[in-house]
Amino acid sequence: MSAKGIFIVFEGIDGAGKTTQVDLLAQNLASLGREVSLSAEPTTLATGKAIRRALSGEEKKSECEMAAMFVLDRIAHNINSETGIRALTERGIDVISDRYYYSSLAYQGTATDYEWVKTMNINSPEIRRPDLCIYLDLLPEESLERISRGRESLEIYENLEKLTAVRAKFLSVVEDLRRDGESIYVVNAARAAEDIAKEIFEIVKKHI
Ligand code: TYD
Repeated sequence: MSAKGIFIVFEGIDGAGKTTQVDLLAQNLASLGREVSLSAEPTTLATGKAIRRALSGEEKKSECEMAAMFVLDRIAHNINSETGIRALTERGIDVISDRYYYSSLAYQGTATDYEWVKTMNINSPEIRRPDLCIYLDLLPEESLERISRGRESLEIYENLEKLTAVRAKFLSVVEDLRRDGESIYVVNAARAAEDIAKEIFEIVKKHI
C-alpha cells in the first residue's frame, strides 16, 4: 500500500446511481482500514455554489461560461488547503469524487468545443488526473425515470435529448482518455446496487 491516498472518480449521466456507489465503495474501503473522504463536483465551495445557481436556471450562463466555471471549481477542488484532493491524498487519505473532468468533456464538450474543454482541463497544472475512473453506464430513459421518482423539479441538463447526447459523448470520452493512458472502467448500472458495488470493489482492489 502506498503512503499516498488513491483518487477515484465516479461518472455517469444524471440518475446513474453515482451517489449510492460512492457511499458503498467508501464503506468497502473503510472495511480495509483505509481512511476515505467523499467529495463531489460541483463542490460546496463558493465556485460550486455559483454553478448550482446556473444549473437551476436561476442565473443564466452560456455553455462556454459553464465550462470555465467548472474548471475554476475543479481547480479549487484540487488545491483547497483543507478539503482539496491534493491535501487529502498527501495525508494518505483516499478521495472519492462524484464527477470530475469527464463530466465537463461530456456535457460542455457536447455543447461547446470538445478540444477546448479538454485542453483547459487536461493541460491545467492544477487539475490532476485521477488514479481510476468508474463510469456507471445507464440508458437515459432509465436514468430520467429514476430522477423523476425522487424529485419534483429537473435541472437544465435533465431531459432525454440532452442525456442521450451526453451518454454517447461519455462513451467516446472514455475511449479518448483511455488512449491517453487513463484507467477507466465502464460498469453496467442497470443492476442491483449491491452487485454493482461488488464489481467496483474488485476493480478498485487491483489499484491499491
Ligand atoms: P450532479 O449534482 O452530480 O447531478 P446528479 O446528482 O443528478 O448526477 O451534477 C449536477 C449537474 O452538473 C449534472 O447535470 C452534470 C453537470 N455537470 C456538468 O455539466 N459539467 C461538469 O463538469 C460537472 C462536474 C457537472
